[in-house]
Amino acid sequence: MSTDEEVAATSIPYFIGKKENIIQTRRVLKSVGGRDVLVIYHQGDFYAIDARCYHSGGPLQEGDIEDFDGRPCIVCPWHKYKITLAEGEGLYQAVDPSVKPLKPTWCSKGIKQRIHTVTESNGDMFLTLNDSPGTIDSDYYQTEKYRDTFLKE
Ligand code: FES
Repeated sequence: MSTDEEVAATSIPYFIGKKENIIQTRRVLKSVGGRDVLVIYHQGDFYAIDARCYHSGGPLQEGDIEDFDGRPCIVCPWHKYKITLAEGEGLYQAVDPSVKPLKPTWCSKGIKQRIHTVTESNGDMFLTLNDSPGTIDSDYYQTEKYRDTFLKE
């Protein structure tokens, strides 16, 4: 998100389909504003998240959705990283070796995956890209450099 033109383009709500169709398919992959975004319908809620995993670009559209620490997460199919759907946080389990018996607890790596906003109007669904400043790890996998190097073979 470097130029004024690109920033302006991100604040546009893009039509992404009819609500009933997205509910039926549960997952929709969309390219909007130069970004590939995965839209997910899960247990009554809609989520939108950068489509390639922040770790190494894994295809999140192929990941399972599971609850961890009471939060719905997508599990990347490549190395099983867990990413919260609502916030884009990377979750991991840690063990404090000084506490017996050993008990793993869920911890956060912070926001790693850029999430976006899904809204509805009269049965039509719209996606608004998150143009918050600063870099989020998943941004790299949306760049031309990444696409040219890894996706155009
Ligand atoms: Fe997603 Fe490694 S690419 S966990």
